Amino acid sequence: MKITIIGTGYVGLVTGACLAELGNNVFCLDVDPRKIDILNSGGIPIHEPGLADIVARNRAAGRLHFSTDVAASVAHGDVQFIAVGTPPDEDGSADLQYVLAAARNIGRHMTGFKVVVDKSTVPVGTADKVRAAIADELAARGSAVRYSVVSNPEFLKEGAAVEDFMRPDRIVIGCDDSPEGEQARGLMRKLYAPFNRNHERTFWMDVRSAEFTKYAANAMLATRISFMNELANLADKVGVDIEAVRHGIGSDPRIGYSFLYAGCGYGGSCFPKDVQALERTAREYDQDLLILRAVEAVNDNQKHVLGKKIVRRFGKDLAGKHFAVWGLAFKPNTDDMREAPSRVLLREMIDAGATAAVYDPVAMAEARRVLELDFADRPEAMERIRFCDNPVDALRDADALAIVTEWKAFRSPDFDQLKSLLKSPVIFDGRNLFEPQVMAETGIEYHGIGRSVHTRA
Ligand SMILES: NC(=O)c1ccc[n+]([C@@H]2O[C@H](COP(=O)([O-])OP(=O)(O)OC[C@H]3O[C@@H](n4cnc5c(N)ncnc54)[C@H](O)[C@@H]3O)[C@@H](O)[C@H]2O)c1
Repeated sequence: MKITIIGTGYVGLVTGACLAELGNNVFCLDVDPRKIDILNSGGIPIHEPGLADIVARNRAAGRLHFSTDVAASVAHGDVQFIAVGTPPDEDGSADLQYVLAAARNIGRHMTGFKVVVDKSTVPVGTADKVRAAIADELAARGSAVRYSVVSNPEFLKEGAAVEDFMRPDRIVIGCDDSPEGEQARGLMRKLYAPFNRNHERTFWMDVRSAEFTKYAANAMLATRISFMNELANLADKVGVDIEAVRHGIGSDPRIGYSFLYAGCGYGGSCFPKDVQALERTAREYDQDLLILRAVEAVNDNQKHVLGKKIVRRFGKDLAGKHFAVWGLAFKPNTDDMREAPSRVLLREMIDAGATAAVYDPVAMAEARRVLELDFADRPEAMERIRFCDNPVDALRDADALAIVTEWKAFRSPDFDQLKSLLKSPVIFDGRNLFEPQVMAETGIEYHGIGRSVHTRA
């Protein structure tokens, strides 16, 4: 099939590459010429395990093309995926300007039947706006070309995006019941048939329910995280081990183990903005989503939890103190720094007068770019952050180590070496990577999240 992907970011590039891998002829469009240049010269603009090989293989096979040519992109695909960003607007609602610009481009250039697929995460009712934007453009040039707008939200996880796309838990597709909608359903069924060979994974529904499903999924996951974080903070006070509690409740099949880890807060490009956007949608309909308001507030608070523990241990004035920070990306296996808790911690350390030596296995370049923006108001702050080539180097002469991202590479460090390099053997573990008893036996002062029962005198 001939497919166009509009927006060659995390979702667009993975979708395009994976659909090409299945034999489709895919045209990826982006407005960012830098991104397209990188891809056309054999590079890859993001870190995503397994993606580079798929992109290289399918480019070489002539099934995957990258371009900034809008007219050519519209001419190419019978199916046009919109996978552009939907960042939060000032009021928290999803900013649809990129989605609607993509829709207008399609309307401006299309000459035959198109299935327009909203893959970006968009609020309920967006398909109607996309339909109207295309209709306006067609009317402006007196064209009556037929089309259908479909919702097909994406559930991939950064860091496991290729695997998630190739072996999805579910494929959600919302189509309407018009003749065009029927035609779109046929094309979408054909496109996704390879994913359904083992068993049917597609859930067919109406367009608005499909749009809503994506928000409901992310809101549920964010709720589980904030729920555990709130309980972990109480656990610290009442002398309870939150990890024991996680096992105790996760064993109930109605609850399950996933997404119950206490930590220093969720970040990334999806949970924070999607929770906000759903709250905003509700407010438009005079409903207050009380649970989600709390989920967001708990998470904002949780991003400060490591900073608070450090201040409790070392005092408010951190002048002269130096900290090692392991992990900068918002989660492992990605270089994505959007809303990463590490940014909040570094701001707190620097504001309190400390210096930091930081290390992340893949996010160093992106972290430097993002932190320069974060500290644009005080450029001297960047001189107080040392970017290290390896985790061991970051430890040298630090008063403590703070762990912010649960990279596998941090799970089994050489604790004797760690102790010898740190000025004082103290770990603030924002991801509960280590066992407090083992830390105590090793002679390391350990501060986890919701685990202080083990470290009380
Ligand atoms: N990143 C994830 O893990 C993830 C997972 C599921 C869903 N989503 C959703 O998918 C959407 C895209 O997210 P992302 O992380 O891939 O964003 P991204 O910022 O990585 O990529 C978006 C791309 O769209 C391009 N673009 C903007 N306007 C354009 C236009 N008119 N024509 C062509 N290209 C255009 C941008 O230059 C950018 O490269 C968002 O709605 C997001 O919520 C993201």
